[in-house]
Amino acid sequence: MSNSLIAVVMAAGKSTRFKSRRSKLATPVHGKSMIERVIEATEGLSPQAIYVMVGHCAEDVQSALRKHPVEFITQEPQLGTGHCILVATQQIPQTSGTVLILNGDIPLIGLNLLKKILESHHSERADATVVSTCLEDPSGYGRILKNRSGKITRIVEDRDATPAQRRVKEINVGLYLISLDLLKKFISRLSNQNSQQEYYLTDLIELLIAARKKVNVFGTPDPMEVLGVNDRIELAEVIRVLRLRTLQRLMRDGVTILDPATTSVEEDVTIGQDTILFPGVRIEGPSSIGRRCVIRSHCRITHSILGDDVVVNDLSVINESHVAEKASIGPFAHLRLEAEVESNARVGNFVELKKARLGQNSKASHLTYLGDTTVGQNANIGAGTITCNYDGVNKNVTEIEDDCFIGSGVELVAPVVVHKGAYVAAGSVITRDVPPDALAIARGRQENKQDWKQKRAEQKSKPTKA
Ligand code: UD1
Ligand code: MG
Repeated sequence: MSNSLIAVVMAAGKSTRFKSRRSKLATPVHGKSMIERVIEATEGLSPQAIYVMVGHCAEDVQSALRKHPVEFITQEPQLGTGHCILVATQQIPQTSGTVLILNGDIPLIGLNLLKKILESHHSERADATVVSTCLEDPSGYGRILKNRSGKITRIVEDRDATPAQRRVKEINVGLYLISLDLLKKFISRLSNQNSQQEYYLTDLIELLIAARKKVNVFGTPDPMEVLGVNDRIELAEVIRVLRLRTLQRLMRDGVTILDPATTSVEEDVTIGQDTILFPGVRIEGPSSIGRRCVIRSHCRITHSILGDDVVVNDLSVINESHVAEKASIGPFAHLRLEAEVESNARVGNFVELKKARLGQNSKASHLTYLGDTTVGQNANIGAGTITCNYDGVNKNVTEIEDDCFIGSGVELVAPVVVHKGAYVAAGSVITRDVPPDALAIARGRQENKQDWKQKRAEQKSKPTKA
């Protein structure tokens, strides 16, 4: 069945209602572009080829699909969906088969539904199949018009419909099956005599019926699977549906999500049992979160791995980093660019780690920047410690070995090594390596001037000389 299937996905349109300077179809929808979602569902049918029609902002669509083995056909200019398919039939090399035509802007479409539509097309021995659904508010969509015996007669576009036709709630979702032979024969007969002066693919239905061809309507009861995204309001709705789908799967698998309305977890994120996500958490994939973790409010975790029993306190950002089991992060922490926090380590508030490793049981509890740094085990990094890693040209490395104690307010001017067991006194500016077990003090000596206040007052009260 599937090896005679050819898919044509229409992604060349201008998307006027979306009001974007980019292609609407390249817009991210819950971690994947709109067009990628349609292509992935289509790939599940194993068609012999997938042709993607491109035109308006073609590069956006092509780069969104760079990982997919599809073939691009350019439609230039874009004169409507009918014209789009005319261009497709002129370019594709196949001479027979069934063509699956899809609008590129139906990102919720799933493989199961596609399979059912294909089955219905074949079992009904239809010449063409149109997919419909019913909407409470069908405005903006093409309506399926039927005769008294319930047979489809034509599709009328919203803009061309009479008030009575506009009251029809059954809409065309933009997904069709038709044999290549028939398509080639009829597609060039479309006209553009309509409100938009476009060639409508939907007008093909009337032509097929006039030629006594069998047009099957496959009605799907769940409009959510076939919602077309034409504006940003529909985009938000589709993202909401996808977000909830992912969250419900996670909840069924044993993850607690305190407020699904404000939580977002992308599909390629795994989360272990008994982990708790507080309101406002966003996790982007690919990421993996262990078991029994607690991710408190308004944290964002992107492309990262967290082990079991990790606590991430409020308002922390973790990007491309690795946090091992039982470590604790935040509040207000920032881990980025391959930061690595080993087990039981603690990254406290207002601490940033960039390309830095904090070893087992080590702590950087307050107001610290560790960049291009390795910290060994059981080290304590005092409040306000800063690694001065950038000399204006190069990034230099700081190494703090096991069991070191770095006092508060220390600046470590890289490249520099603080060897095992060494102490650095608070307020030091360290420019040379510190030997093992040594104490480094690098700060101005304090001088206390006795009775200075009184002396100054006396000085001030002396009459100034004329
Ligand atoms: C289309 C259908 C409408 C249906 C709706 C479902 C037509 C005439 N109308 O309307 O009946 O209810 O989808 O969402 O088909 N495209 C091209 N080249 C073009 C024009 C469009 O590739 O010249 C592509 C678009 O990028 C898009 C798809 O075709 O992916 C549909 O086009 P769009 O303008 O969104 O059509 P609708 O007005 O939504
Ligand atoms: Mg559309």
